Amino acid sequence: MSEEIAKISYNGNTYDMPVVTGSEGETGINISKLRGQSGLITLDPGFKNTGSTTSSITFINGEAGVLNYRGYSIEDLAEKADFMEVAYLLINGELPNAGQLDDWEKKVSYHTLVHEDIKKILDAFPAKSHPMGQLGAVINALSTYYPEALDTDRDQEAKDLTMTRMLAKMTTLCSWIYKNTQGHPYMYPQTKYGYVENFLYMTFGHRTEEYVPDPVVIDAVDKLLILHADHEQNCSTSTVKIVGSSKANLYSSIAAGVAALWGPLHGGANQAVIEMLENIKKDGGGMQKWIDKAKDKSDPFRLMGFGHRVYKNFDPRAKVIKKAADDVLDKLGISDPVLELAKELEQKALNDDYFIARKLFPNVDFYSGIIYRALGFPMEFFTVLFALGRLPGWIAQWKEVNDLSLPIGRPRQIYTGPQSRPFVAVKDR
Ligand code: SDX
Repeated sequence: MSEEIAKISYNGNTYDMPVVTGSEGETGINISKLRGQSGLITLDPGFKNTGSTTSSITFINGEAGVLNYRGYSIEDLAEKADFMEVAYLLINGELPNAGQLDDWEKKVSYHTLVHEDIKKILDAFPAKSHPMGQLGAVINALSTYYPEALDTDRDQEAKDLTMTRMLAKMTTLCSWIYKNTQGHPYMYPQTKYGYVENFLYMTFGHRTEEYVPDPVVIDAVDKLLILHADHEQNCSTSTVKIVGSSKANLYSSIAAGVAALWGPLHGGANQAVIEMLENIKKDGGGMQKWIDKAKDKSDPFRLMGFGHRVYKNFDPRAKVIKKAADDVLDKLGISDPVLELAKELEQKALNDDYFIARKLFPNVDFYSGIIYRALGFPMEFFTVLFALGRLPGWIAQWKEVNDLSLPIGRPRQIYTGPQSRPFVAVKDR
């Protein structure tokens, strides 16, 4: 099939740019040669119209509410797979067979221990410091305990070990950070437990008594981690990839992704949603006042958990999480007035012209915090749980940059500052 061409005309000249078509029919203009041919660059703050890369990992159709990991729908994976299968799928490109899954789970379980000195790093944090600040620091510290990871051009076996170590140690790091913020003694991973069980055991278990994770909780957390596992070139994933494009090691690249995810416009939204709902409850629960605030351009308040850069009809993950929230609270016998407030807010917003016109509706963060809270996690820990879920996606996307030897990310700009001018000595200023 002949290559399609897009024509850019400027200043009396016309430039032919090749059109790229993806496996799901998406099309984009490849402008790699634009500046060389025309002297022009493009400008797209927030990259709302700009693709940074091709990728074979995740596909989103924002208009149709489709989210696929390596071609499998998020609905199928959330219902029929577990997080370890999905992590294998994202990183290796195919669902594991029984033997591969068993080997994968054993390998990950074997690497869950972290260096004892990590405790000294955790001890150095202020008692109530935010867990995301601690998480980024200790993940980056892994690059000092495993200096062999700094050579990102090593053989595949060495790179696989680094990726396995990152996935495995994340459960221990996250649970130890939780224990650190609670002032409780650390628990050690047990090879008899699976990935999510181990995480719950190390987080909620105590040395003084037997703790057996509740299957309802294991299933809910496993499903939530699957729903968060990857999401194309979102803010934190793009951060991981641009850091990785400089041949920085995996641990430091992931730590940079943790920093990006922390923002309340991104992964920090799940904490911000609960804070918002708590404020609405404290304020008497009147929804309209808050919806009007969100619509008021002079008011910085936004409805946390609403809107999305890509989804323009619904976030398929929010649908699954909303049902899971109902199921989990029902099974655990918890009635949370904040959940009722959330449902009321959703209904009001979905019937408001402002939100309808801008296609704003609940995203993945709107309901997830309600489940995390029901499971006993403190609000400051919600974004850590998002990072735990997103980790295999970050690893897979970093691997794609490394495997494809993609060029170092270095965007251009349009300069708007002072034009060239002579230096003025301080005595003359
Ligand atoms: C995640 O990218 C990903 O894939 C992210 C994520 C992932 O899995 O990695 O899905 C996870 O980050 C989900 C989003 C979590 N963030 C929030 O819930 C914070 C609240 N939402 C917004 O701040 C906002 O909707 C964003 C950041 C999510 C999207 O912002 P965009 O795409 O840049 O949209 P925009 O800011 O240009 O908004 C378009 C219009 C504006 O109004 P107008 O200027 O056109 O009049 O919609 C308005 C905005 O003011 N708007 C909102 C709103 N979100 C957008 N108005 C009120 N409340 C909101 N939440």
